[in-house]
Amino acid sequence: MLSTASPAATNVVSTLYDQHGRPLEYLRLAVTDRCNLRCFYCMPEEGIKYMPKHELLSYEEMLRLTGLLATMGVRKVRLTGGEPFVRRDLVPFMERLAQLPGIEDISLTTNGVLTAPHVPALARMGVKAVNLSLDTLDRARFASITRRDELPRVMETFYALLDAGIKVKINAVVMDGQNIDALIPLADLSRTLPVDVRFIEEMPFNGGSHEAGPDSLPWNHVRIRQHLEQHFGELTPVAMAPGATASDYSIAGHQGRVGIIAAYSRTFCGTCNRLRMTAEGGIKTCLYDQGVLDVRALLRGGKDDEEIAAALAAAFRFRAANGFEAERQRPLHQLSFESMATIGG
Ligand code: 5AD
Ligand code: SF4
Repeated sequence: MLSTASPAATNVVSTLYDQHGRPLEYLRLAVTDRCNLRCFYCMPEEGIKYMPKHELLSYEEMLRLTGLLATMGVRKVRLTGGEPFVRRDLVPFMERLAQLPGIEDISLTTNGVLTAPHVPALARMGVKAVNLSLDTLDRARFASITRRDELPRVMETFYALLDAGIKVKINAVVMDGQNIDALIPLADLSRTLPVDVRFIEEMPFNGGSHEAGPDSLPWNHVRIRQHLEQHFGELTPVAMAPGATASDYSIAGHQGRVGIIAAYSRTFCGTCNRLRMTAEGGIKTCLYDQGVLDVRALLRGGKDDEEIAAALAAAFRFRAANGFEAERQRPLHQLSFESMATIGG
């Protein structure tokens, strides 16, 4: 049975809760599986099989699904990819998304390569925060991690966002032997600029070597914190917002915060309020599940709104308790055949 909160008198939204009592509030929508970078922890250098265009959800289909999810409690939508800006006409799509009744917050995660020219449009439509993926401030290292020499364009986006008054959160994946020397310079951006810098545990999605689980991860959240504290002194924990994945900390004298996302240790599942939609219309109720519903088949099979909403509700209702359970329920428990380019982070 679906549990519902009492809806506000003036609207028809009733928040959906899963069987573990967590609300559905937040949709992460991958608009494409393509990317213009080749981050080694996410994609192989060559031979990537992108989906043919007709297999991707159209913008019309995404609007319909997001509209339905808004009636079920979703308030916040984050666009992800791949890289969202490699899909044509993203900005007009976002403008329409922002008009959907019930959607209060639109944000996106971008690698920043193509983003700078669109910053004024993002500001105009009311985007308040953008997550910028950036693992190092060193150009040569950036090129070796992403296999593309694009740091200058990413930095252009970074400053354009700040100038436009859009909140920037930097996402840096912490990679043993790759960018450990970048952690302090990245965190130090929060001292001179009003930006938050979040460090993400590396997840072994792309054929990684940590199959034994989080215990074998060389840079887990505990070690990342110790590393930052050695340089900055004590990090002061800041209360986590409901559904947040980052443990945020303030540092004396810094304008922004630093955060640590225990993406592989999965410390935050107890408050998870999100649903993911892959570019081809797969629903994931956990980053670690294998996809629990094919909404594209429902859409293209002529199902009506009520039927699709019921299927979405059932998928959310029966989600795994946490990322470990979701991983165990996968065929062969394998994560390595998937990548962030299809999941969207
Ligand atoms: N481990 C951790 N984070 C990852 N991301 C992509 N792949 C991985 C991985 N294997 C991050 C990107 C981006 C977000 C969408 O996901 O850096 O910030
Ligand atoms: Fe592209 Fe992001 Fe994957 Fe890097 S991590 S290849 S920027 S989708």
